[in-house]
Amino acid sequence: MAKQKNIQSVLHEERKFAPPAAFARKANLKSKDLDALYARAANDYVGFWSDLAREEIVWQRPFTRELDDTEAPNFRWFTDGFLNVSYNCLDVHLAERGDKTAIIFEGEPGDTRRISYRELHGQVCQFANVLKQQGVNKGDRVVIYMPLIPEAVIAMQACARIGAVHSVVFGGFSAHSLADRINDAGARLLITADGGWRGGHSVELKAAADKALEAGCPTIERVIVYRRTGRPCVMRSGRDSWWHELAAGQRIQCEPEWVDAEHPLYLLYTSGSTGKPKGIQHASAGYLLQTKLTSRWVFDLKDDDVFWCTADVGWVTGHSYVAYGPLAAGTTLLMYEGAPTYPDGGRFWKICQEHGVTILYTAPTAIRALMRLGDEVPKKYDLSRLRLLGSVGEPINPEAWMWYHRVIGAGRCPIVDTWWQTETGAIMMTPVPGVTATKPGSCTRPLPGIFADIVDDEGRSVNKVGAGGYLVIKRPWPSMLRTIWGDNERYLNTYWEKFHNRFYVAGDSAHRDADGYYWIMGRIDDVLNVAGHRLGTMEIESALVAHVHVAEAAVVGRQHEIKGESVFAYVVLNKARPQGAAADALADELRRWVADQLSPIARPDDIHFTDNLPKTRSGKIMRRLLRALARGEAITQDVSTLENPAILEQLRGAKHSPSAAPAKKATPKAKVKAARKPPRKTAVKKRPAKPARRGESKRR
Ligand code: PRX
Repeated sequence: MAKQKNIQSVLHEERKFAPPAAFARKANLKSKDLDALYARAANDYVGFWSDLAREEIVWQRPFTRELDDTEAPNFRWFTDGFLNVSYNCLDVHLAERGDKTAIIFEGEPGDTRRISYRELHGQVCQFANVLKQQGVNKGDRVVIYMPLIPEAVIAMQACARIGAVHSVVFGGFSAHSLADRINDAGARLLITADGGWRGGHSVELKAAADKALEAGCPTIERVIVYRRTGRPCVMRSGRDSWWHELAAGQRIQCEPEWVDAEHPLYLLYTSGSTGKPKGIQHASAGYLLQTKLTSRWVFDLKDDDVFWCTADVGWVTGHSYVAYGPLAAGTTLLMYEGAPTYPDGGRFWKICQEHGVTILYTAPTAIRALMRLGDEVPKKYDLSRLRLLGSVGEPINPEAWMWYHRVIGAGRCPIVDTWWQTETGAIMMTPVPGVTATKPGSCTRPLPGIFADIVDDEGRSVNKVGAGGYLVIKRPWPSMLRTIWGDNERYLNTYWEKFHNRFYVAGDSAHRDADGYYWIMGRIDDVLNVAGHRLGTMEIESALVAHVHVAEAAVVGRQHEIKGESVFAYVVLNKARPQGAAADALADELRRWVADQLSPIARPDDIHFTDNLPKTRSGKIMRRLLRALARGEAITQDVSTLENPAILEQLRGAKHSPSAAPAKKATPKAKVKAARKPPRKTAVKKRPAKPARRGESKRR
């Protein structure tokens, strides 16, 4: 980050909101409680977490070893303890809250269900017995590719119950992406559904799963299919079975499999700066501990709350704050299957009204999209039960924050802007709602037990107000990832190598203000954050070059009013550059191609055909230049090292975007971000004389 040394933050957000007095009076954590937690953690962070682990988790065999750092930075916590995560989410509640509603479900077509803790326990046990009967053993990987329905949570909890390791693949991912993840995990069993409802359409999950399996997933032996939409789907005999038929014969009791604290609970694939997604591996006890605690600390959960985290179970937020944390905390959670704007922009608010949602946790992209529809939409609904709002997944711009605060929260609900990652497992930095004064756009401070810092290239703390640097975590924490599945080298290189194993490198840059509040500035690697979803630019480039007409591609991000960031692709063809309608048609074809290869989320908004990419004489692609061009910013960097300066004019020319919208004028902050990114060493290029095959280009 040498280039970043003197970068000053340009965001001046002066507004500050104290926690509303009425909220603070009843809050779970008061100022003095929080101070005590900080003091305890500062004094002895290992003892701090270990004491909490003894209090919060029901252990089958208590642990005596607290933190094992003998193989640091592969840290392990509470290693000789035995527990079961599903037992801690379900069985522990049966005596006191067996009849309490665990899940309120609303499907997109409007169907609703309420499932009590006792019923959920029974269904999880029953499905755990199904898994066992299908030959799934402790440690086996099970891939879950489902809509956002209670059975997705049941499947996850059932895996946890028998010690199987689940890997949920977001239902919006394509068959190719599903196959890649199945193969990397070496999964034996796939759980899917005939389909799910989204935006008024049925998403044909089983058909996509079949396509993935046809592409070659040799480890998959059995497929279990949940009937959701009732639309016809092909069942392959000997391999595929219906969930309801298998479950019908099974008991609703299932002894939990006691596993050691470090037993892998799940893998979740996320994008990194190379083409291959990383299987982030989480352990059982530490993850359970922190998701449970943060559910209570950050969301101030009370017995009568209705907690709605809108995230899909395909993302980490849907793991930590749908499938695990709130259940461990004994909460009533709401799940909604479909799109926020179906059948109209009032759907979210109608759900809040009808189910008496008290805590809403969603993403800035959704907030911005709903904000655009105008204040009159939410004003038609009674949102008076809401008492706390949350945001996650990407920086929230102050305008969206203020709208959320004013229109949805009626000025009375604190907003918790929670910073964390797939890798961290649980919320790391956030306001504590009854205590911390909030500022629009800041995730404020680390929670107790989390030792975050901002450091320069040499690993020294950056203490100057507003100066940017690497966001790092200086001490291990229980819910941290343990490794990358099958590739510990990559774990070490990605998160630890930069500062010689001293700190965990989050991959974000940040700065602190005069109050010591953290402001996340964005990613420092080649990862985009599109609508709160992480996408590696290399993954998209690999997908593009796998197309028969694409020779080379470079992908950058540009600001997008709703999605935060959108995908901008520069594409070099292996044939003459098309013009006019032919160019539009090819751009559309490439968009469909990327959606099919990866996911519709990765579809480039802008595609720019060019004869060449800007490169230095040593062959490095000048990404900062491409980013500046994509964003319509002035080019500030030195272009004298360009091998092919004539290409600049062509790169400035017309691009192919569906809306044909001109690139937005860059904000000063965006310029800082653009200037900050170091150039990547190589462009993704098709190998000569080899047919286009996605897997191959990805391995580069
Ligand atoms: O860049 C940060 C951004 O999302 C990244 C993590 O993405 P993922 O692993 O998909 O997890 C998202 C849900 C936890 C981070 O490196 N990010 C997440 N939360 C925030 C954020 N950026 C700013 N503010 C946040 N609250």
